[in-house]
Amino acid sequence: MKKILITGGAGFIGTEVVKQLSDSGEYEITVLDAMTKQIHGECWKSSYLYKSIETKCHFIKTDIRDFKAVKNAVSDSEYIIHLASETGTGQSMYQINRYNEVNLMGTSNILQAISEAKKESRVRKIILSSSRSVYGEGKYVCPQCGIVHPGPRKKERMTVGDFGVYCEICNSRLALVPTTEDSKITPNSLYAFTKYAQERMLETMCPALGVDYTIFRFQNVYGIGQSLKNPYTGILSIFSSLLLENKPINIFEDGNESRDFINVIDVASTVIKSLETLESSMQIINLGSGNGVSVIEIAKFLKAIYKSNSQINVTGDFRMGDIAHNIADISKAEDILDFKQTISLERGLRDFSEWVLKQEKNDCDYEISLDEMENAGLFIRKI
Ligand SMILES: NC(=O)c1ccc[n+]([C@@H]2O[C@H](COP(=O)([O-])OP(=O)(O)OC[C@H]3O[C@@H](n4cnc5c(N)ncnc54)[C@H](O)[C@@H]3O)[C@@H](O)[C@H]2O)c1
Repeated sequence: MKKILITGGAGFIGTEVVKQLSDSGEYEITVLDAMTKQIHGECWKSSYLYKSIETKCHFIKTDIRDFKAVKNAVSDSEYIIHLASETGTGQSMYQINRYNEVNLMGTSNILQAISEAKKESRVRKIILSSSRSVYGEGKYVCPQCGIVHPGPRKKERMTVGDFGVYCEICNSRLALVPTTEDSKITPNSLYAFTKYAQERMLETMCPALGVDYTIFRFQNVYGIGQSLKNPYTGILSIFSSLLLENKPINIFEDGNESRDFINVIDVASTVIKSLETLESSMQIINLGSGNGVSVIEIAKFLKAIYKSNSQINVTGDFRMGDIAHNIADISKAEDILDFKQTISLERGLRDFSEWVLKQEKNDCDYEISLDEMENAGLFIRKI
């Protein structure tokens, strides 16, 4: 049996990875997770996520910032999948220390533990869950200037209801193209900065420590198990809570902002495949569906599934730091890992909504999260 440590293994993506690894019968799995209240609620032992893995792994409830505990957990691991992280893009813009402490020091502790173990270290490979957010707005084409990587959109334009993306050189309106891994890095949020810093830490230290790595830049991962409590991430959960109570859904911007959704089952199987795929070592790989879908389409689709009476309002409100669109170029994942999306968005959304209907009702404090952003000057309501 190969020994594997999964940090953040009790989270949304982590639990799916644990389940698939356990089914393979090839791994002895240790999970290290702090069971944060924001994700798991007050009674973490009774949370859906924890219950789904408790018999499938050796579980260590501890904080990734606790070096001694991390060192112990790393000591006889051959593989590490590092998922433990603070994950809210908007929240990271005012909880700066918290995001830096967890995301930077967590990664640092793993590398320090490997370094201190010296020749005793058995770690062969680390997989890191980075994010498409490192690209900021991502890759676009300008009719005058060709391929460009625009910075964040301007508040003045968005305030008057113009949510397009414009060329910074000639001011032409830009058209989206799939973002390749070599696209310019322009983090728009502190969260994105920490993800990029995690990447650079691995790129710098792994060769020196004699450890392989694969870095995945995930797009919007969705599916069964995603937190219904956390108001800082996941529009599917937020929309579901509102639709089930027939409350209005207020969609930001002009509703046409789009995202690339990829099901957690496909993400987990690809992460697992990379453990033993030599060609994926020392590589950064996008993981998404390669297709964009607008936020308003998602809201309408879920409304129909839940047969909700909610009103869908396009408000023109916006959050600083949000991107307009993004689609991953997934050809590298296809080439190296033979990646194929096996769960269509339509099927994935149906499975997700059936699961939501079986869960206890959750108050996810979404309005509180918006008030926090408004107080920090990052959420702008159209007057
Ligand atoms: N879900 C997505 O759409 C998405 C997209 C891009 C990248 N990612 C990355 O994938 C990883 C997993 O994301 P997820 O969606 O499963 O998130 P999640 O919040 O469901 O899981 C994260 C887990 O980390 C744990 N954790 C948080 N702080 C910790 C700490 N200080 N010490 C130990 N454990 C801690 C939480 O308790 C949770 O179980 C993260 O690194 C995230 O940045 C996710």
